[in-house]
Amino acid sequence: MPEKTYDVVVIGGGPGGYVAAIRAAQLGLKTACVEMRKTLGGTCLNVGCIPSKALLTSSEKFEEAKHSFASHGIKLGSVELDLPTMMANKNKVVEDNTKGIEFLFKKNKVDWLKGRGRITARNEVTIEGDGGSETVGAKNIIIATGSESMPVPGVEVDEQRIVTSTGALELAEVPKRFAVIGGGVIGLEMASVWGRLGAEVTVIEFLDRILPGMDGEVSKQMQRILGKQGMTFKLNTKVTAAAVGNAGVTLTVEPSKGGEAQQIEADVVLVAIGRRPYTAGLGLEEMGVEINQRGRIVTSHHWETNVPGIYAIGDVIEGQMLAHKAEDEGVAVAELIAGQSAHINYDAIPGVVYTWPEASTVGKTEEQLKAAGVKYKVGKFPFTANGRARALGMTEGFVKMLADAATDRVLGVHIVGASAGDLIAELALAMEFGASAEDIARTCHAHPTLNEAVKEAALAVDGRPLHM
Ligand code: FAD
Ligand code: NAI
Repeated sequence: MPEKTYDVVVIGGGPGGYVAAIRAAQLGLKTACVEMRKTLGGTCLNVGCIPSKALLTSSEKFEEAKHSFASHGIKLGSVELDLPTMMANKNKVVEDNTKGIEFLFKKNKVDWLKGRGRITARNEVTIEGDGGSETVGAKNIIIATGSESMPVPGVEVDEQRIVTSTGALELAEVPKRFAVIGGGVIGLEMASVWGRLGAEVTVIEFLDRILPGMDGEVSKQMQRILGKQGMTFKLNTKVTAAAVGNAGVTLTVEPSKGGEAQQIEADVVLVAIGRRPYTAGLGLEEMGVEINQRGRIVTSHHWETNVPGIYAIGDVIEGQMLAHKAEDEGVAVAELIAGQSAHINYDAIPGVVYTWPEASTVGKTEEQLKAAGVKYKVGKFPFTANGRARALGMTEGFVKMLADAATDRVLGVHIVGASAGDLIAELALAMEFGASAEDIARTCHAHPTLNEAVKEAALAVDGRPLHM
């Protein structure tokens, strides 16, 4: 055993890893976290959730100042964009957040081992840092190394003209023409940012709809609303090549099922066709840690790999690639290592797309229930019939609730609308407690709030909405 030995060594300081480290330390375990970035917080805080939401908020304010304030009786002079200040604000938000994790590590006595971690023996991690190499002992190892952008064959990323989300969060000027490959979450969020700031946006999607993982009605409504905002969608289309020239990027596209090729010109192209687990240089092969066909680390339902004492959580294992899913797994695995019991209900993990309006989801989609042969009832309520939505001037969208036809238990809820990302929390809680639609319908909801649309959707499951 090396001189320095920990109860837990976490590799990766993202939402999965840093949360696991904090929880393990809270439980009295001697804990270290290995992170090779210059700052803690992983993809989410550095180049993901946080900077994207900062730019979404800023660009939303810009859009509102330009187009919405007047209808509220607020007259502004000309509204101008100051992109360097917007970017500086985003960088400050990121810095404050990542520094916050450093503070939490100190507070909880978690050692940050700076450098790239590699598992060199069953109970040993070697860290290659700026100051050389160090090997520490680890009674338990938690792999939380996250994910990276998936490449598109024939489209070489340079992070200038052809970018991943990381480059799209750093553009020095607003591109005139912004092409997005992939109509998923990253694609639509980044398309919203640059579209609001003035870019002409084209989204190229391989499948026949955007947001293919969400409920069909949500995809349809989002395409309609974002289309009205100026986005152009090229569905059933694949990109086969990209050529960078002085005038920008020429993309060659063709129908997904084959056919005549076409060209699309853009100043900046975003590649956003999904993310893949990041396990490079971890020593998994040498340790015999099992990986599946999709490159994800295989774990038991207690997040342990096939090698005892080595656990994995977050984007690097199966499941949705979401920060809160990674965090919950971090807590659960730390509690298990400390001898407690832990469980995650993967059916009640919410998902949010932070466009405007937002789209959110928890539980099963209508398509999934149909495919599984489950008999269900649907309750739907539009925000046009909600008083608060009217006052906000944000009446687009709906709440759609799916409940078991026999038991009335809520099986899934899907929302398009203002603050849909906040509204879904009530439904995740309801599902966690096994609520029925009737339980939600009989819960008093404050007036006037957007949440009343949730209550009305629950009433609509039983065919008795009050305001429709
Ligand atoms: P990560 O956050 O990727 O962290 C892994 C860390 O491990 C990294 O810092 C990496 O440097 C480090 N690492 C890797 N290998 C080693 C090694 N060998 N040694 C040392 N360190 C190593 N999710 C949401 O829920 N909400 C959102 O709004 C959201 N927005 C997003 C926006 C964008 C643009 C992107 C790209 C992602 C977004 N996500 C969002 C997804 C979210 O970022 C991930 O699901 C989450 O970060 C996964 O956490 P993780 O801890 O598994 O991995
Ligand atoms: P995604 O899986 O959400 O979307 C990828 C899209 O690209 C899909 O619509 C897919 O059909 C399409 N696609 C796949 N191959 C293609 C091809 N060759 N040509 C054209 N289209 C193609 O992945 P995305 O947007 O890259 O995001 C990655 C992960 O990051 C997601 O799993 C998501 O969970 C997470 N994320 C979460 C956010 C949030 O919670 N708000 C925000 C951003 C990312």
